[in-house]
Amino acid sequence: MIRFLLNDREVCLENSAPEMTVLEYLRTKAEQRGSKEGCASGDCGACTVVVAEVVKQRLRYRTLNSCITLVGSLHGKQLLTVEHLQQHDALHPVQQAMVDQHGSQCGFCTPGFIMSLFCLYRNDHQPTRAEVERALAGNLCRCTGYRPIIDAALSLAGQGVADALAQQEAAVATRLTDMLQQPISASMQAGQRHFLVPTSSDELLAQLTAHPKAQLVAGGTDFSLTITQQLQQPDTLIYTGRVAELTQIEESEQWLKLGAALSYTDVEPLLQQHFPSFARLLERLGSLQVRNQGTLGGNIANASPIGDTPPVLLALDAILHLRSPAGRHTMPIAEFFTGYRQTKLPTSGFIEAIEIPLQPERQLYVYKISKRLDDDISAVCAAFSIELKDGVVQQARLGFGGMAATPARAFHAEQALLGQPFSEQGIEAAQQALAQDFSPIDDVRASGAYRLQVAQNLLLRAVLEQDNPTAEALEVVQYA
Ligand SMILES: Cc1cc2nc3c(=O)[nH]c(=O)nc-3n(C[C@H](O)[C@H](O)[C@H](O)COP(=O)(O)OP(=O)(O)OC[C@H]3O[C@@H](n4cnc5c(N)ncnc54)[C@H](O)[C@@H]3O)c2cc1C
Ligand code: FES
Ligand code: FES
Repeated sequence: MIRFLLNDREVCLENSAPEMTVLEYLRTKAEQRGSKEGCASGDCGACTVVVAEVVKQRLRYRTLNSCITLVGSLHGKQLLTVEHLQQHDALHPVQQAMVDQHGSQCGFCTPGFIMSLFCLYRNDHQPTRAEVERALAGNLCRCTGYRPIIDAALSLAGQGVADALAQQEAAVATRLTDMLQQPISASMQAGQRHFLVPTSSDELLAQLTAHPKAQLVAGGTDFSLTITQQLQQPDTLIYTGRVAELTQIEESEQWLKLGAALSYTDVEPLLQQHFPSFARLLERLGSLQVRNQGTLGGNIANASPIGDTPPVLLALDAILHLRSPAGRHTMPIAEFFTGYRQTKLPTSGFIEAIEIPLQPERQLYVYKISKRLDDDISAVCAAFSIELKDGVVQQARLGFGGMAATPARAFHAEQALLGQPFSEQGIEAAQQALAQDFSPIDDVRASGAYRLQVAQNLLLRAVLEQDNPTAEALEVVQYA
C-alpha cells in the first residue's frame, strides 16, 4: 500500500496503475484541479506542487513538477497543493501578494507560481532577487510578464510569511514518521503490474530479480516522458528514492561517494565545496523543480549524449559502483557508455553510487552551451580537468557531451595537450586533434560544424580563464 498525506488527509493507494502521475491523480482521482497541465513534460511549471518529507526530524519542502512525478514515489511524504494554501477563507500571503502586484492575468500559470513562491518562503524568509529568479525559472507565464510576478515575490522578502501551515509542521512530521514505521509493504499494483518501493539495496536487488521486466525509476524526469509523451504502459516500476544505500553521501580525504538516487539539489552543496564549477553547471540543469527530482544515477543510466553530468564525471575520472545478481563491482565511467543510449549496466543491475576522486592538483573547467540560460538542453557541454606544473600540462581529461553518440572523452586532444604549455599556442594541436576525436552531427540544437568550433573555442576559453577560475561556467549563452 502506498500511503501519503494529501494536504492534511491521509491517502492509501493499493490498486493503482504504476504509471499514474501525481498530476493525473490530483485531477482525475482526488478532484483537485488547481494544479494545471500545460506541457506534461516538466517544462512549464503549471503543475508545480510542493512535497514535504521528514529529514532529521524536520519537514523539508521541495517543489516538483507533478506531471512527471509518479504517485507511488509519494510514499511517506506530504503532498501540498494550491487548494490547501487558502485557510479560513483568507488568501495565503503569497497569493495576496500576487493579487496586490497584479501578477496574474489568464491565471493558467498562477497556481504553479504560487506553489513555487510558497516553497521559496517556506525555506527562506529573505530571498534575494537572484534567489527569486532561481525559484521561478521553471515556471512559464505567457501573458502577465515576469516583472509583476517578481515584484510580488520580492514584496514579501524580510516580512516573515506567517501561515497556519507552519503551526501544523510538528504534527505532520509525526504523522509521516508513524506512516513510514508501519510494517506494510510499500507497493501498489494494477493486475500483474506493480509499483514497488524498496528501502535497501538487498531488497532492490531481490525485486529486480523477481521481476525481470521491471524498470527502475528515480526522479522520473526522463522516464516519465515515456508515459506522458509516448503513452507507454510500463510493466513493474521500482522506485529507488527510498533505498538507504542509494541516498547516502560518504566523504573521505581522497574521494566523495554519492548515492545514485540523490537529487541534484541534494548533492549541490557538497559539489559547491569541492568542485564549484560543477555546482554552477547544476544551476543550469533544468529548473529547480527538475533539480529537486532528477538524480545523478538517472542522468548516467539514461546515457543521453547530451546529459550534462557525464562529461564532468568523465573529466573527473569518476568510478561507478554497480550491483547486479552477479555481485558488486566498480567501473570507470569512461568504460560505461557503449553506444547511443547503450551502457554496460548488467541485466537486473543498478548503479549504487558514484565515486569522485578528489584531486586538488587539478583545475576543473565546466561549460554548458545552450540557447537559453535556464531550463535548456546543451548543444555542447564540456568539462576539462587539467593538472599543470610550471604552466605545462601534466594530466588532462577532456569530457564532452553533444559531440558524439555518447558522452565521451577526447583522447587525441588529451594526448596533444600533454607536455605543452597551457597557453593559446600550446593548445593549438589539441584544438586540431578534436576534429580527430569527434565528427558531431547536425540537429535542431546546433550544426556539427558549430559544435566542433565551440569545442575548440572552449579549450581556448579555459586557457584565458585559468587565472580567474570564478569566471568558469558563468552565463554562457550562445546561438548556434
Ligand atoms: C524539463 C526538463 C529539463 C531537463 N534539463 C536537463 C538538463 O539541462 N541537463 C540534463 O542533463 N538533463 C536534463 N533533463 C533530463 C533529466 O532531468 C536528467 O537526465 C535526470 O538526471 C534524470 O534523472 P532521474 O532521476 O529523473 O531519472 P529517471 O527518469 O528516474 O530514470 C532515467 C533512466 O535511468 C534509469 N535509472 C535511474 N536510476 C538508476 C540507477 N540507480 N541504476 C540504474 N539505472 C537507473 C531508469 O531506469 C531510467 O531508464 C531534463 C528533464 C526535464 C523534464
Ligand atoms: S504541465 Fe508543464 S511542467 Fe508539468
Ligand atoms: S497569467 Fe496567463 S500564462 Fe501566466
